[in-house]
Amino acid sequence: MELNRDKRVLYGRRRGKSLRKGQQALINQDLPLFLVSIQNEKLDLAALFGPGLGKYWLEIGFGSGEHLAWQAHANPDTGILGCEPFINGVATLLGKLKSDRSTNVRIHPDAAESLIEKLPENTLDRCFILFADPWPKSNHNKRRFVSTSNITALARVLKAGAELRIATDHVNYGAWILWHMLQSNSFDWIAETPEDWRLRSPDWPPTRYEQKAIEKGLKPVYYRFRRNDQPWQ
Ligand SMILES: C[S@@+](CC[C@H](N)C(=O)[O-])C[C@H]1O[C@@H](n2cnc3c(N)ncnc32)[C@H](O)[C@@H]1O
Repeated sequence: MELNRDKRVLYGRRRGKSLRKGQQALINQDLPLFLVSIQNEKLDLAALFGPGLGKYWLEIGFGSGEHLAWQAHANPDTGILGCEPFINGVATLLGKLKSDRSTNVRIHPDAAESLIEKLPENTLDRCFILFADPWPKSNHNKRRFVSTSNITALARVLKAGAELRIATDHVNYGAWILWHMLQSNSFDWIAETPEDWRLRSPDWPPTRYEQKAIEKGLKPVYYRFRRNDQPWQ
């Protein structure tokens, strides 16, 4: 299947090792069933997911998709959008969705920015940014997904009361995320005690990247922010 991907700069890989035969078959045969088709007009989520779903969530940079597949299986009444430009990860997620028989997922196999701008205002109930690339060198910090412009873009599409979950294992990115989120008038940090950001709740399964970080002795942070009712601009 030929993918029509955004030509804007993406910092990061679109491809890893050559796809195995089974993975290529998932991309060719299964991806079209889950694909978000980006057109000029805004996306109509009710039409994209079909009837019977009351809520819509977005996961940005799902990697191999273990968190997204878990959420889709646990929340069959929720439509979950996933963005991931790394095609090997997309194939892995498709395999999981197939074995779980989950149909409440739609995939944008590209950078999230191009999908977010096509979402209407006030449409998402939850968003996950889990272990986004930390870009640790200071001259690469501007590549970080958490930025003033992406926070504003998310504020536009999240409903008042929606939750934004952001995790990282990188100390400097953790401080960066908090600083940027606290600058925004559109989000409130939900934490009341240190446990609220040091621990995941039972409805927040681990990701592959997180497990590797913990094996290395790192201590991730798990932030939750609530979209308030202030205007996004
Ligand atoms: C460090 S990995 C973490 C993957 C997964 N969330 C996990 O925790 O295992 C970061 C992921 O974000 C993806 N990514 C990078 N830039 C992105 C963007 N602009 N939009 C969506 N995903 C992006 C990368 O391809 C990569 O798979």
